[in-house]
Amino acid sequence: MRIVVMVSGSGTNLQSILDAAGAGLLDVEIAAVGADKECRGIDRARAAGLETFVVAPGDHPDRESWNRALEARLAALAPDYIVFAGFMRIVDARLVERFARRIVNTHPALLPAFPGAHGVRDALAYGVRITGVTVHFVDSGVDTGPIIEQAAVPVVEGDTEETLHERIKVQERSLLVTTIKHLSAAGLG
Ligand code: GRF
Repeated sequence: MRIVVMVSGSGTNLQSILDAAGAGLLDVEIAAVGADKECRGIDRARAAGLETFVVAPGDHPDRESWNRALEARLAALAPDYIVFAGFMRIVDARLVERFARRIVNTHPALLPAFPGAHGVRDALAYGVRITGVTVHFVDSGVDTGPIIEQAAVPVVEGDTEETLHERIKVQERSLLVTTIKHLSAAGLG
């Protein structure tokens, strides 16, 4: 199964995919790793000898041309799936349609609760005792696509956004690898 992984930050989810593939636990071909900016995730991909690309919003006059540039880049790579592993940009409906049910996103909360860019902070602020992580197909909404897998993560007394997010990411990394494995095994790509 041929995938492109999109990142925006530290890339620890990407690293878990790389490690699983390297250990022979995941039968995927990572065609490239892309990002909206230079980031640690891109550094990790380069260190692994993977093709990388950056499509930065600041290099385009508007959102429409940024989406079209990203869409063209992704299409040229002909992925079976695109994995948003901490990719923090919202892509438009045309791009989502182009890759309908082939974009997988991971979100650090139990959707539909706490969508958006601050799911961990919002869950903590709300005072939930249990939060978690969701892996879902991307649709034209924000964190609203069909759910594939979820895992629960307890909130611990004294948690900060950082300590809670780190606990979530432990679950998230393995859930993302498991999801990719299942998609590959299902012959869906
Ligand atoms: C992940 O928890 C992801 O769900 C969220 O940001 C984090 C990215 O972590 N959107 P990393 O870049 O994979 O380390």
